[in-house]
Amino acid sequence: MAKKSSKRKRQAQSRLKSKLEAALKKQKAQMVKSASAADAQEYTVHQSSDASRQRRNLPMAGRTIVVTSGKGGVGKTTTAVNIAVALAKLGKKVAIVDCDTGLRSTDMILGLENRIVYNLVDVIKGVCDLKKALVRDKRLDDLYLLPTSQTAQKEDVTEAQMKKLSDDLKKDFDFVIFDCPAGIEAGFRNASAGADEALVVTTPDVAPVRAADRATGLLENRGIKRIHLIINRLRPKLMRKGDMLGVNDVLGVLNMKLIGLVPEDDAVVKSSNDGVPLTLTDNSHAGTAYTNIARRILGEEVEYLDIENMDPGFFGKLMSIFNRK
Ligand SMILES: Nc1ncnc2c1ncn2[C@@H]1O[C@H](COP(=O)(O)OP(=O)(O)OP(=O)(O)O)[C@@H](O)[C@H]1O
Ligand SMILES: [Mg+2]
Repeated sequence: MAKKSSKRKRQAQSRLKSKLEAALKKQKAQMVKSASAADAQEYTVHQSSDASRQRRNLPMAGRTIVVTSGKGGVGKTTTAVNIAVALAKLGKKVAIVDCDTGLRSTDMILGLENRIVYNLVDVIKGVCDLKKALVRDKRLDDLYLLPTSQTAQKEDVTEAQMKKLSDDLKKDFDFVIFDCPAGIEAGFRNASAGADEALVVTTPDVAPVRAADRATGLLENRGIKRIHLIINRLRPKLMRKGDMLGVNDVLGVLNMKLIGLVPEDDAVVKSSNDGVPLTLTDNSHAGTAYTNIARRILGEEVEYLDIENMDPGFFGKLMSIFNRK
């Protein structure tokens, strides 16, 4: 048994290593990308005409939402990707825009890193048009990624350019989700430039909560009125023991409208490494929490998961049974 599990571990590690090597190779290749690569771009954009939008009772312009936090590493990209996937599964046409120029990661978490040729900076610099740079997800017809450049700087893009990009995207999508980088500098300003709404992600820890407060103030100053809070990585055991900030503590400090509570879940790490977002399958606690957020974004009233009393083992055990096979 122990032999078997260490073999599985070695296999998984070797898979991850190959994935990392492939990604590094790809990164190097992109830095010396020749113009001929342009021809290889795989893209198809389904134009949703005004008529079809009206048939589906959609507003004439899509909703634009920035997922931000101030603090780094609290789960913005995980949140943006899983909500985008859930909205697409719920029948919406969704574009997710990676605004972390220089450090992109949205493509890897979505599992689309091998299909990128053009990126956001190419669109802004006029190297290609928007439709060419959008990568369509093969698993969901109505989900697209606009990746960003790994070599350009955040300062290479202006707020006016991002606003124009957002205006162009919202003509053709029901939802445009901007995955914001850490911090409150140029990347934050660019990611929020074209957004009408915001999802602020925090973990129940002191520094991220303070950063979320700062980010929210800045978003309000920028005229974004519809701002909702997501508390990520809640740990049932610590919550029960009172060893971490509780939901009410966080809400008390931030005085914001809550839209989601997401538990700490090992399935998040595996899904990110595999490039298979949790909301594609919905067999994890965190996946369910993200799907619930998507449904609330669409106006549904959905009960919150009782994270404090959650059995952390149920989905975990289920997953480990599948993974063993
Ligand atoms: N609910 C969760 N349970 C367990 N791990 C999580 C959860 N949410 C996020 N993580 C992990 O936390 C790490 C940071 O997540 P993520 O990259 O989404 O954060 P981020 O805010 O986008 O980071 P950055 O500021 O660098 O862009 C990742 O390793 C991710 O797998
Ligand atoms: Mg991120």
